[in-house]
Amino acid sequence: MADGQPVAPVQTIEDVWEAYQEDIDEVEAHIRRSLDEPSPLIKEVGLHILNGGGKRIRPLLLILCAHLCGYIAKKDLALGSFIEFIHTATLLHDDVLDEADLRRGQQTARRIWGNKTSILVGDYLYSLAMSQIAGFQNHGMNETLSDACRKMAEGEILQLCANYQPTITESDYLRIIEYKTGALVASTCKVGAIIGGATPAQQAALYHFGLHLGMAFQLADDRLDYIANGNRLGKTLGQDLKQGMVTLPLLHLLQHCSTQDRETIIHHMINQTVEEKDLLHIINLMNEHGSMAYAAHRAQEFIDAASLDLKPFDDCMAKRSLRIVAGYMLNRDR
Ligand code: IPE
Ligand code: IPE
Ligand code: MG
Ligand code: MG
Repeated sequence: MADGQPVAPVQTIEDVWEAYQEDIDEVEAHIRRSLDEPSPLIKEVGLHILNGGGKRIRPLLLILCAHLCGYIAKKDLALGSFIEFIHTATLLHDDVLDEADLRRGQQTARRIWGNKTSILVGDYLYSLAMSQIAGFQNHGMNETLSDACRKMAEGEILQLCANYQPTITESDYLRIIEYKTGALVASTCKVGAIIGGATPAQQAALYHFGLHLGMAFQLADDRLDYIANGNRLGKTLGQDLKQGMVTLPLLHLLQHCSTQDRETIIHHMINQTVEEKDLLHIINLMNEHGSMAYAAHRAQEFIDAASLDLKPFDDCMAKRSLRIVAGYMLNRDR
C-alpha cells in the first residue's frame, strides 16, 4: 500500500477523522505551541478563533496527500498548523470585508475587538505562517504557498470589483472562487505531496485535485449561505446577497427568472434592503428555477474532476479517504 497501511474499511468522514486522529492531534499541538509565543492580544484573538471549532479540513488534506505519497512520519506535520494559520488569517480579514457578526457559532473577532485588531492579527498569522514555512528551506513549498497567498488576495479583490454587479458571468465567478479558495486547498495538497517525496507529476496531480476540491468546497459554501441550518453552519445566512455578492445560485436565478423578479432582486441587493421575507422568496425562486440544483451539479463536476486526478495513485487507505473527503465537500452541512 502506498501509505504503508492495510486498506481499512474507511467509509464515512467520521471513519477518516478517526483513522488519522493522531496526526490531527499533532497539528493541534503545533497550533497551541505557536500561540504561546506572541503578545497577549494576538494570543487572545488567535485562541478565540482557533478554539471556535473550525473543521481543520486543510490539515486533514495535507495529511492524507502526504500519506498517499508514502509519508508516515510526523515531523513535518507542523505544516498543517501553518496552513491552518493562513486559512485563519483569511477568515479574520474576510469577516472584516463581509461585515460578518458570526463565525464558527460565536461572535467574530471584528465584533469583539474591532476591525483594526482583526486585520493586524490576520497579518500576524499570515506572516508567522510564511516565516515558519520558509524555515523548511524547500523551494517548492515556498513557491506554491506564497503563490496561494497572492491568489487569495487577488480573489478577494476580484470579488470586491464584482460586488453589486448582477451582470458578472459564470466564468468571472469561477475565477473568483478558484483564486480565493481553490488556490490554498490546491497548494495544501501539493505540500502534502512534497513532504511525501512525490514526483513532479504526482505533485501536479495533487495540486489539481486540491484545486477542483477547493472550488467544489466554495460552491458548496455558496449554496449553504442560502439553505443551511444557521445554527449548525455557525454563520449568518443570506450574508452573500446582503453584501452584494453574486454567487452561482443567484447568478443562475438572475439568468432564468422573469424580468420583474430580476429587477426586484437587483433593486433589493443594490439598495441593501434585503429582508428575511425577500430572502425566503429568493430561495423559493431558486428552487423553482433549479438554481440550487444547478450549483450542486457544477460542484459535482468539480468533484468528478478531482476524482480523476487521483487515478494515477495506487489504491490505499489515504486514497479512499480522499475520495470520502471529496464526497463530504458536497454533502456537508457546516
Ligand atoms: C470557510 O472555510 C471559508 C471558505 C473558504 C468557504 P471552512 O469552511 O474550511 O471554515 P472552518 O475552518 O471550518 O471554519
Ligand atoms: C471565505 O470566503 C474567505 C476566503 C476564501 C478567503 P467567504 O466569505 O465566501 O466564506 P464565509 O462564508 O465567510 O466563510
Ligand atoms: Mg465571508
Ligand atoms: Mg468573503
